[in-house]
Amino acid sequence: MMSSSTTGSTGPIRHDSTVATPVYDWNGYGFDTRQVHAGEYHDKNNGLRVPPIALSAGYLFDDFDDQVSRFDGSIHWRAEDLPGRETPNSFSPSERAPIYSRQGNPTNWVAEDRLASLEGGVASVAVASGQAAISAALFALAQHGDHIVSTGSIYGGTRILFGRSFARFGITFDSVWDAADDAEWERVIRPNTKAIYTETIPNPRNDITDLRRIAEVAARYHLPVVVDNTVGTPALIRPFEHGCHIVVHSTTKFLTGHGAAVGGAVVDGGTFDWAAAERAGRSFPLITRSSRPNVAPMLERFGAGAYARAVRESVVNDIGPTLSPLHGFLLHQGLETLSLRMERHVASSIEIAAWLEKQPEVESVDYAGLPSSPLHELAVHDYGADAQGRGRTGSVFGVTVHGGVEGARAFFNGLRIFSRMTGIGDTRSMVLHPLSSTHGTFSPEINAQLGVTPGLLRLSIGLESVDDLIRDLRGAHDRVAAR
Ligand SMILES: Cc1ncc(COP(=O)(O)O)c(C=O)c1O
Repeated sequence: MMSSSTTGSTGPIRHDSTVATPVYDWNGYGFDTRQVHAGEYHDKNNGLRVPPIALSAGYLFDDFDDQVSRFDGSIHWRAEDLPGRETPNSFSPSERAPIYSRQGNPTNWVAEDRLASLEGGVASVAVASGQAAISAALFALAQHGDHIVSTGSIYGGTRILFGRSFARFGITFDSVWDAADDAEWERVIRPNTKAIYTETIPNPRNDITDLRRIAEVAARYHLPVVVDNTVGTPALIRPFEHGCHIVVHSTTKFLTGHGAAVGGAVVDGGTFDWAAAERAGRSFPLITRSSRPNVAPMLERFGAGAYARAVRESVVNDIGPTLSPLHGFLLHQGLETLSLRMERHVASSIEIAAWLEKQPEVESVDYAGLPSSPLHELAVHDYGADAQGRGRTGSVFGVTVHGGVEGARAFFNGLRIFSRMTGIGDTRSMVLHPLSSTHGTFSPEINAQLGVTPGLLRLSIGLESVDDLIRDLRGAHDRVAAR
């Protein structure tokens, strides 16, 4: 009889009880691997596999000197607590010495590291909502007397934020409606402009932007490009790969994914040259100048992660829109399935948009995933389609029905599976009439420029069976036809 340590011709098996070192740095792994693992940590107390919800407002300091070093930012997160992660995912080490949960929390770090990894950035800061993310991202760049430039087609709430609260704080904004027109940029960019703001896939009309074009303009003027990637998500498009510098998210949508938790995040690409901008006369004091005597500027202390650090320490910690660890947990869990959900969201949207386009009750469908769309080439080819030919088109788009507002009312009321609600990007399909909701306070001129007409409805395609969704849409059209 063969001994247990030999197996025929393969020779003796060596019993080796050493265990391979776990992976701590997920850089270089595939997107799907990183969305499951990046940011996770090994819980030495109980071996919890799923990073737990760390519900603690504060953290114990070991002793007096520990307190001092946490506050002056000189301590490193101790190697024995996170073996192999003394320099975790390019966060500056002192980010890991927590002081108080308004400024950082272990559950949120998992979500932050995971999102930074998926976007290809150096660091991320989770906050309480998408609006908080946009505000924090821009408050770190602009202050009273400054100015930002935005592409015209942006989320209605962002336009309101810029026009109302930002204006009250003394930060003004102008829109560029044709990003291809150099003269328009030239007209609006001023010496006090501090950022160009845009979205990867604007809602409601899926009128995607040419990020590389915008990044080229920004480079000429030494301006950082801040991109809202809520509707695109890093599963479809990663703005840092196209020359943009900062990404913001409403994590309420696809990232958390199930419509349960409001949240947001700012991601720092680590690529903007703050020092060069300063030399060119475009100053960013929170990043390049010292805010306290005897403390060096963020840029000197934290290098490529200086902007994220300024967002966390000088904006979020001051103003306070911190993400609850409960929501941080839902975010890092939601991220685990992001690419799978986005594949289905996009595949169903392509099928539904193609079907809608053929219906006699439909005047038009605004969806870059349709070959008939003037933006199809840009969305699908210029920015790289996946193996199935699907590009950066997402699952939020516009459909205009015949009959103006009354046609829209009948269609809206006739839906039984689609939820009538404000919201996009979760498992459920949703419908909204923008002109009487998100865009209700805008002037007729702005709505005309945005293409928000009385018959336009916004659809967000969820994860239900596509046949059921098409049946639901057909039923609603029958009501329009019966009017
Ligand atoms: C593109 C976009 N950005 C930002 C926001 C604001 O996010 P939140 O509702 O999480 O504050 C939304 C909300 O719908 C959005 O669609």
